[in-house]
Amino acid sequence: MTEKAGTEGWVPAGIDTTRPTSAGIYNYVIGGKDHFPVDREAAEAMLAGSPNTAVGMRATRAFLRRAVRWLADPDGGAIGQFLDIGSGFPTAGNVHEIAQSIDPDARVVYVDYDPTVVACARALTAGNDRVRVIGGDLRRIEDILAHPDVRDFLDWRRPIALVLNAVLHFVTDEQNPQRLIATVRDRMAPGSFLALSHGSMDGLDKTLSPEQIQTAEEQYRRAADPLVLRTHDAIQRFFDGFTLVEPGLVHVPRWRPDGTDDGALPPEMSGVYGGVARLPAHPTGS
Ligand SMILES: C[S@@+](CC[C@H](N)C(=O)[O-])C[C@H]1O[C@@H](n2cnc3c(N)ncnc32)[C@H](O)[C@@H]1O
Repeated sequence: MTEKAGTEGWVPAGIDTTRPTSAGIYNYVIGGKDHFPVDREAAEAMLAGSPNTAVGMRATRAFLRRAVRWLADPDGGAIGQFLDIGSGFPTAGNVHEIAQSIDPDARVVYVDYDPTVVACARALTAGNDRVRVIGGDLRRIEDILAHPDVRDFLDWRRPIALVLNAVLHFVTDEQNPQRLIATVRDRMAPGSFLALSHGSMDGLDKTLSPEQIQTAEEQYRRAADPLVLRTHDAIQRFFDGFTLVEPGLVHVPRWRPDGTDDGALPPEMSGVYGGVARLPAHPTGS
């Protein structure tokens, strides 16, 4: 299944294979098989310009695995329902595989706005009646929440984990990412969680030249999804109304490391912050 997405032999109707996508670039860099030639070209240019990109993307995916394991763990978040928006191509350590290895009844809804991703994820999870895959745009969060596979398949009276791994940096300030998160937060039961990771320049400017940073940003500008890197403070604000669990919002290799990260570079070179936070009670006045 997976090889086919990278060949012109299998392309869902209406897909533009002349523009790189964030899903394809990321999948190529983390060693997946779902990418088109334009994605590979953009990824290679990015890797040549900023050698830390590969380490950062792999560390981001590793953060997702650790975060989901902790969330599903009865001694951690004890969560049995996941809403993963910007879920990306299925690859090693998918959310449902990790969650269901701990709690076989765990329910997972994957949402992505890239139709190729949706088709691949549906093919991979066909037959798993505790997984749903839908097409949806984070920037139209109300439509996602109104979809029957989100509204009814998940039990909103019980805690849910909202997973936004490496996706919010494709949402501009004008598109009001704060409001998008608050919209989900206000529907969540107390005890729900937000897990997110987000690209940042903090610390990178000391080791990368402005040209290297510009190269990475340019590749994403060419892509369907422009990249918006944010500071620690700006990313921390996405957790308003939630309480961050230890160790807080940190560079992803520092979030509850389990020794499987390659550790090739200092954590700040990942260029990505990650955190997991709990909703104590419904915040007021939002
Ligand atoms: C860098 S990948 C991350 C994939 C996955 N979350 C992971 O961590 O492995 C970003 C994904 O977000 C998706 N995406 C970007 N903007 C989106 C939006 N506005 N709504 C839904 N999905 C989006 C892309 O199609 C891509 O699959």
